[in-house]
Amino acid sequence: MARGDSQFVCQSCGAVHAKWSGQCSDCGSWNTLVEEIASAPLGTQAKPKKAGRRGKLELVTLDGEGGDIARLDSGIAEFDRVCGGGLVPGSALLVGGDPGIGKSTLLLQAVAHLAQSGTKSVYVSGEEAVDQVRRRARRLGLAESPVALAAETSLENILDGLKAEKPDIAVIDSVQTLWTDQLAAAPGTVAQVRACAQELVRFAKKSGCAVILVGHVTKDGQIAGPRVVEHMVDAVLYFEGERSHQFRILRAVKNRFGPTDEIGVFEMGDAGLQEVENPSALFLNDRGDQTPGAAVFAGMEGTRPVLTEIQALVAASPLGTPRRTVVGWDSGRLSMVLAVLEARCGLSFGGRDVYLNVAGGLKIGEPAADLAVAAAILSSALNAPLPADAVMFGEMSLSGDIRSVGRSDARLKEAAKLGFKQALAPLSATEGHPPVTVRGLGAVADLAATISAWRQED
Ligand code: TYD
Ligand code: MG
Repeated sequence: MARGDSQFVCQSCGAVHAKWSGQCSDCGSWNTLVEEIASAPLGTQAKPKKAGRRGKLELVTLDGEGGDIARLDSGIAEFDRVCGGGLVPGSALLVGGDPGIGKSTLLLQAVAHLAQSGTKSVYVSGEEAVDQVRRRARRLGLAESPVALAAETSLENILDGLKAEKPDIAVIDSVQTLWTDQLAAAPGTVAQVRACAQELVRFAKKSGCAVILVGHVTKDGQIAGPRVVEHMVDAVLYFEGERSHQFRILRAVKNRFGPTDEIGVFEMGDAGLQEVENPSALFLNDRGDQTPGAAVFAGMEGTRPVLTEIQALVAASPLGTPRRTVVGWDSGRLSMVLAVLEARCGLSFGGRDVYLNVAGGLKIGEPAADLAVAAAILSSALNAPLPADAVMFGEMSLSGDIRSVGRSDARLKEAAKLGFKQALAPLSATEGHPPVTVRGLGAVADLAATISAWRQED
């Protein structure tokens, strides 16, 4: 495309169209196409080829120097674990999250810790003035930390500054405020965000400086502007949580240097974000008397066992189509569990609303939660409270069989640590972990029988 031609870029998915239209044909969003003057993306402008010299592809063996990477240890264990064991020099990291969730606080704490241990750190804020950042640092008790601070939004100025300063780590807060004078588009548009992120990632690779980009997330969970930034960086972390809850969960959704199923749990307090080393105790600490419909799920988040309470409410519905409301779990999976309970346990949810909630704002993705969900629903439907000292885990098949799940040993160990005495688990997990005794269940009908028996004991 010749320089100066227009193109129309979807602000939601980044697709480029030759003509304007009301709806993006790629992602289906309305009114998201914005005209931009096209120029070749930064760094990709064709260089005149030198006559007679062709690039030669150099092939090497898999086995070679440079196996282990020395990582930067931020001293915030929850953060380091989610990064895969510390930040990798020369890597680019994107931290996304809703505005006000605590991204700036987390990263300021992380760079301040790094700077205190001798890592050369730069924090560039495009959103807040220097005074505001200083005030926050004072509040967090980190004002003494030797972090080099700047308030700047021009990409060229930032890159010049970083090249002169040669830091080991640089935080850019946020990528949506940056702009480069190479493009006519406004800051925050896909073209600007993409071009700026690309240049910063190139800088990271070339200089060996770890670059952390902060990105705000739109309502539907996309990092605003382009998903293309996610593809450019080495790792994408989401910082999530309910504003009304104190807990914040840092989750890796992509990581070229570590696993993606780790979570870091923090608590937002007056002195900033505190690490939560034992999330199970936190998620369970408000449990009162046993009411029907509450079951404790022994789950795994990455390498770490986490116990959470799953609550269900089954109530007569005044509506023609009863309501199914789920918070923190997959609603399709709830429909499946309900269908299996109807087919295998002779229950009917036809005229009843079903609500399911995972306490503490945690989102569970494991199928191992099936058994705990079924137990919570049965407990509510039969009006039979579950014993306070029982945990559950196990996957359910459509035939109603309880399937085995991984890491049952770690789950039981965590339950024992928190004072639980019994566990409902798949048949394969019958090796108890004193003082927890395991009751192996082969099918969901056994679960219903167990819950009915508990009710009669009371
Ligand atoms: P912030 O880090 O500015 O969020 P983001 O960068 O993701 O937009 O967090 C701001 C919120 O955190 C704000 O609502 C106030 C709260 N907060 C505390 O509760 N305690 C603290 O010590 C700090 C610094 C912030
Ligand atoms: Mg911020």
